[in-house]
Amino acid sequence: MNLIEVKGLTKQFRHPIKDPGLKGAIKHLFTQKYAEKLAVNDINLSVKEGEAIAYVGPNGAGKSTTIKMLTGILVPTSGTITVDGLTPYKNRMENAQKIGVVFGQRTQLWWDLPVIESFSLLKDIYEIPDDIYQENLNRFKDLLGLDEFLHLSARKISLGQRMRADLAAALLHNPKIVYLDEPTIGLDIAVKERIRTFIKEINREKGTTIILTTHDLDDIEDICERLVIIDQGRVIYDGELQAVKDAFVKERTIHFQMKEAIPSLTSLIDGLPGVILENVSGQQFSVRFNRFDISAGEIASYVMQHGEVIDFRIDEPKIEQVIRKVYDGKLDLNSGQEEETRLVPEKV
Ligand SMILES: Nc1ncnc2c1ncn2[C@@H]1O[C@H](COP(=O)(O)OP(=O)(O)OP(=O)(O)O)[C@@H](O)[C@H]1O
Ligand SMILES: [Mg+2]
Repeated sequence: MNLIEVKGLTKQFRHPIKDPGLKGAIKHLFTQKYAEKLAVNDINLSVKEGEAIAYVGPNGAGKSTTIKMLTGILVPTSGTITVDGLTPYKNRMENAQKIGVVFGQRTQLWWDLPVIESFSLLKDIYEIPDDIYQENLNRFKDLLGLDEFLHLSARKISLGQRMRADLAAALLHNPKIVYLDEPTIGLDIAVKERIRTFIKEINREKGTTIILTTHDLDDIEDICERLVIIDQGRVIYDGELQAVKDAFVKERTIHFQMKEAIPSLTSLIDGLPGVILENVSGQQFSVRFNRFDISAGEIASYVMQHGEVIDFRIDEPKIEQVIRKVYDGKLDLNSGQEEETRLVPEKV
């Protein structure tokens, strides 16, 4: 059985349209005009225990609205949600025991309390046994470096510290599922890295199911194997992250380290179709190539004919490029075809 089962999930927001001022408010009493916004439109989603899913899409796509319905904060207009056998908005307390939530835009901590006191409160609220609380606290202190600010109030700590504290708070009670809505927003690279490593570890070691929304696609590269892209409230892709990369990212780079520098390297590489030489320095160089024109294997064996290769590495394509294109409407994932690329790549 799936841990999360979502069928036909829809959220229609309805908000009053008023002219400005008192006159507008009075007029609204009589005319009552409303604008409607279909934020989430007939979404289906099945999630197995232990999966880590990236839920991405442009601003206003409906990501946060989906998360809010999954966590039980918002009631769907129509459709059904089952999370570990429960309907989140109907069984809010029971559901809360099973889930952890981090909203990057808003803290779940008590603003005026020292962070450690917020944790103690959560211990009581969730009735976390002493040993589990201590074990988790020690572990999270270590992994997230909480010691430096545990005794400061949430109001006084930096954004990066706050996000780390929020993550720990969301996971103290060993939830089965954690929903992360932009957990790295506004953070510097070092803190982002720390948070990514932490999330990955929680998923791999504890088998915690992760649903992650983000605009920083580096977040998902390491953590998520499954990618769900939504646009205007609808799912436009649901599948393997790697499959999207394989199908749509044309360019790859190989970095070579040679025993000795190759003489006349430029003219040598010029002999290969569509291959561009980059970053030449001593015995090292990189080549960028279109893998629909030539394979990495062909390039490697060509280079090996002209010198001794000590080491080489192929750069994985970045999902960033692909998803940007999807956002920009330049790529139709359903047809699986960009101008010259193929859905199933011919060559590695
Ligand atoms: N409470 C609300 N009342 C009316 N409209 C809303 C409400 N909450 C969200 N919306 C609208 O629903 C749509 C989806 O919003 P949502 O916050 O889910 O997008 P998102 O994908 O999380 O975007 P972002 O990447 O900017 O966080 C938007 O058009 C938004 O304006
Ligand atoms: Mg959002």
